[in-house]
Amino acid sequence: MQILNWKIDPVLKKEIDEHYRTDFALSIKNEPVINIVKKITFDSVAPNITIEDVKIFMDYINETFLDRGIKGVGLEVGGGCGFFSALLATYASVEKVYSIEICENIVRELMPKVIEEVAGEHKVYEKVIGCVGDFDRLELPNASVDFVFDFYSLHHSSDIKKTFTEICRVLKHGGFIFCFDKTRANSLTDEGLEKLLDTEYSSETKISMGLPPNIFHTRRMNGEKEYRLKDWQNSFLTAGFKTFKHYHIARLSDTKSFTNLIKKTLSLLPVSIQTFFTKILSRDGNKNNLEQSHKIYTKLVNNFPKEISLMVVRK
Ligand SMILES: C[S@@+](CC[C@H](N)C(=O)[O-])C[C@H]1O[C@@H](n2cnc3c(N)ncnc32)[C@H](O)[C@@H]1O
Repeated sequence: MQILNWKIDPVLKKEIDEHYRTDFALSIKNEPVINIVKKITFDSVAPNITIEDVKIFMDYINETFLDRGIKGVGLEVGGGCGFFSALLATYASVEKVYSIEICENIVRELMPKVIEEVAGEHKVYEKVIGCVGDFDRLELPNASVDFVFDFYSLHHSSDIKKTFTEICRVLKHGGFIFCFDKTRANSLTDEGLEKLLDTEYSSETKISMGLPPNIFHTRRMNGEKEYRLKDWQNSFLTAGFKTFKHYHIARLSDTKSFTNLIKKTLSLLPVSIQTFFTKILSRDGNKNNLEQSHKIYTKLVNNFPKEISLMVVRK
């Protein structure tokens, strides 16, 4: 697997090298790949997830929301241990995938191992190009990429308009980005967002992150930022993208309750009809403050940590 080194601002590089996550990543490098994926990609909150679950889920997304658009040259921004880049490379329609990750140790120590196991055959393994780099400074030519993918990385950007402008530059005309990321509810105020960032992690979460349970650690200290759905949408459109769609992908439980029966029935309908009805019926509460609009039900996310937001944005 080829690894490229792209320019990173020295202050940012130092900050990342000293971040607890770098040491944590190194401390698990000899563990089985599935453990690395559970800890790095899923932050230890999806204990039952399997590689097959995610593969089936990606096929569903490709068929249902992307018009089978996973093809050509791909780019994953904030690729972490490369798990999703490897899955994307397994599509015969995909030529290669650039996996950009700012933490050098994660790229060098974890990515090759994860990609080799998840992508399987030698030829597929060679389709992924690891890049130690910053998603604000992509060393790729204008209009050279067919699709971009994000799994909970872009909310780390301190200036999403700048990041999206750079992503838009490298995308071909008609290309798209699909993001699974935190779209907070439009009803949240600026103060509400700040409050979320200052929430301290529980002792249990700190342990799962490889941190001592007694230290003070907040989401802000983890490099997180908060953006409402409307902030994502406005920033994408200002950056030069043409269309923006959002879906809130929710779980189905196995209970035989009346509500679950309705959800199961809805899950069998086409996306446009589901979102029409869920707009009227959605009264689930807003436990994790994610925007609930355009809700889609599927049991395919039952092993995922939470309900997730999907944004599909086309250039
Ligand atoms: C929550 S993790 C996402 C996990 C990752 N997608 C995976 O599947 O393993 C966010 C990742 O984004 C990376 N990141 C943060 N800022 C970045 C930047 N400016 N450029 C590239 N990667 C960045 C972090 O180092 C971290 O690995």
